[in-house]
Order: sequence, then C-alpha cells, then structure tokens
Amino acid sequence: MEALKPRCQSPALDAKSDFRRALRTWFQENGKDYPWRRTSEPYPILVSEMMLQQTRIATVIGKGFYTRFLEKFPTLPSLAAADDESLLKAWEGLGYYRRARLLRSAAAAVIERHAGIFPSSEAELLALPGIGSYTASALLAFAFGKCSALVDGNVSRVLSRLMDDHSPIDSGPTIRRHRQWAGDMCAPAYPAIHHQAMMELGQIHCRPGVPDCVSCPVSSFCKSPSPHLLPVKKSRVEKTEITEHAIWCTDRPGFLLLHKVAGPRRTGLWSLPLRPLAECTFLEKISSSQYHITRYVVSLQVYRGNSPELLPGDEWIEWPRIAALPIAAPFRKEIEKLRDHFGNGM
Ligand code: ADE
Repeated sequence: MEALKPRCQSPALDAKSDFRRALRTWFQENGKDYPWRRTSEPYPILVSEMMLQQTRIATVIGKGFYTRFLEKFPTLPSLAAADDESLLKAWEGLGYYRRARLLRSAAAAVIERHAGIFPSSEAELLALPGIGSYTASALLAFAFGKCSALVDGNVSRVLSRLMDDHSPIDSGPTIRRHRQWAGDMCAPAYPAIHHQAMMELGQIHCRPGVPDCVSCPVSSFCKSPSPHLLPVKKSRVEKTEITEHAIWCTDRPGFLLLHKVAGPRRTGLWSLPLRPLAECTFLEKISSSQYHITRYVVSLQVYRGNSPELLPGDEWIEWPRIAALPIAAPFRKEIEKLRDHFGNGM
C-alpha cells in the first residue's frame, strides 16, 4: 500500500495564505485609487515615495503636488537637469527640502550609473543617493513586483498588533524583526497589491490610537487582546521651543525685502529677513504664528519697520517676482496674510 503523503502545509502556512487572501479581497474591493498605484514605472513611484515621507497623502494629492511635480519634471533627465530654484519651487509647501535635492541626485545617479534605467536589485537601489531601506523596498515591490521588507509607520503598527508584539517599534531589533515579517508575509504572486494593502490597512482600520477592529478584514488573525495599547514606542523626542523675529519692511514701495538662506536648514529658500529680538523691541508687532519643523516648535513674530542693515543673502524683490520664488511655507503664509492686510505698496 502506498504510504500516506506527509502534509506539506503547516497550520501556520495555511493561516498565512488565508491572511493574504482576506487582505487582498478587502483591498481589491476598498483600496484607494492613488495615482502612483496606476503605474509600475519606477520614476513616478520614487517621486511619490519621497513626497510621502513626512507629508500626508491628503496634502500630496489634494494640493496637487504630485501631479504638478510630474508635469514640471516628467522624466528622469528633466529632474536631473533641474536648477535649484525651479526644483525648490515645485517642492514648496512640502517641507523637508533636502528630500527634493536627494531626489534630483538619485535621478542623476540613475542616469550616470545605470544609463537611465532604474536598477532592480536592493543593493543597487540602496547605493543611490537618498534611497534608504524603506524607499528601496517600496521600489522593489511597486515597480519591480518583488516581495520586500516594506515597513513604514502604518505597517509597523499593523505588525505589532497582529503579532501582539510589545517591543518598542523604534528599537533596532524590532525594526529588523518587522522587516523580516513583512517580507515573509508578502504574497509572492502579487507583491505590489499585498504591500499596498498592508499600508492601507494601517491607514483605514488599524489606525493609531483606538483601531477599528469591528470591520477589520483580518481581525480574526490578530493576536492582540488590547490593540489600542500598541505599538509601544521607546523614545519621545522632546520639542524645543524657539522664537523667530522677522521684519516686514515698508520703506521701499513695490518691493519686499527677502533673505535667501544659505545655512544648513532651508538652503536656497527665501524668507522674510530674521533679526535678533533686540533689533525688534521698538517695532510694532503686526503678526504672530507658530509652525513645527523637525524637533522645533517655532513662534514666528513679524514686526513692521524700515529696512534694517542688509545682511549677506538679503535682497529687495519686486512683488511680481515673489510668486515664482521658492519661499519657506510659514513665510509664504505670513507674506500673503500681510499683503492682504497692508497691501504691497505698488
Ligand atoms: N505612504 C507611503 N507610500 C505609500 C503608498 N505607496 N501608498 C499609500 N500610502 C503610502
């Protein structure tokens, strides 16, 4: 008599394929139709991933950044050849301008090192400027249809809860374990769909704080009895409060005094001229606002006055040019608000 064949699928593997199927069915019925999901071209996918680091989807799409950027720089060579001012202008409002320059450097490197064809191996992608393990994994999955260790904040939260993992998501061992799990869980027959679905699960159901488990498509696979307590984080970076004092100069009608930044932050962007408090004490304060940048909470105070002694980088700019310059978003807001209020003296 023929010996019984051993069962080749363990229960864990059955669970994995059941999980993948439940996730895919939900995503195919409910997944959002983002523009970068309609393509497998690496260049627009890279643009979307660079934009989506630190910036919300609603901003990237709703405010037209993604579409406008690709209209302005539709190809790798067009981006690689972009001058600083037009690059920063196309990125204006997205913040973290270093990303824009790294994106341009990556485009130039693909042209120089790979004759304009994106490489499809993880090692070659990681060797490109500005491409870290997350972005390389995203390109592998979405452009090259490969299972990868794709873990962003959403996926990490999903994995912590699914596995009831209480180790801090920002510690090295957890990051490595989550990357391993993400690659192991991926459905080899449809990596792009699988990884997009994991991200979307974190955005829609497995949200930060209290998750929506009642209608979660994979709740039956979730090991956590108290998912609202997960994920655990190791560190919380304390924000430092600082104050900036800017001057709205009214002594040259038709011109606005701006400063082009050369330092480590906001390089190449324009802002209102900033001065120490001591130079502003006797000026009339006309506006104040607050913004967040990296680990700073900045209180921005604007005073009306005559032009102070000009510093290197300060330039009088005629009003019609102002719309076309790359201006740091908090200053753009102030300039528009104050122009509506005080006029531009033209
Ligand atoms: N966040 C980062 N990349 C994303 C993507 N490709 N789809 C949805 N959200 C994302």
